[in-house]
Parts: sequence; C-alpha cells; structure tokens
Amino acid sequence: MHVAVANGVEGIIGECGGSMMCATCHCFVDSEWIARAGSRKDGETDMLECAAVAPRSTSRLSCQVRLNEEMDGLIVHLPEMQI
Ligand code: FES
Repeated sequence: MHVAVANGVEGIIGECGGSMMCATCHCFVDSEWIARAGSRKDGETDMLECAAVAPRSTSRLSCQVRLNEEMDGLIVHLPEMQI
C-alpha cells in the first residue's frame, strides 16, 4: 500500500495509513504470485469482509503485504471500487 500510494497508483487509497482499519487498500494478488505474497495476517480476513468489493481467495489488504526481492514484478489486480 505504501509503495502504491507513494507512486500514485490509482485504486489504492490506504485511508487508515496501514493500520488495518479501513480496507481501502484491497487488492487481488495474481494467482501466479499468491504463494509469494504470504498468508493473511491476524484480523485481515475480517477486515476484508468490510471491503467495498467482495473479497476473493486471492484478496489481500495491500498494507499487510511486505515486499521483498522475491516479489519483484508482483502483479496485483484492483477492485472496481474501494469505497
Ligand atoms: S490501509 Fe487501511 S486497511 Fe490497509
């Protein structure tokens, strides 16, 4: 989320600043990348239920995805709306 917001990626809002309180950073991790994105954090699934668009099995709160070198080239898809 921080990288997306800092680089002006439209569709990632990050209203709560990454404290997992808003779900405006919802994204769908491409199925080819889901294993490298790691698993959801405690409470993440509950917050995803509050997202503007229904979550899928590949849904993540992008503020909870920690990037590393293995994720260079990560593909995520964005929901049609965040709020
Ligand atoms: S920025 Fe609010 S939940 Fe991710």
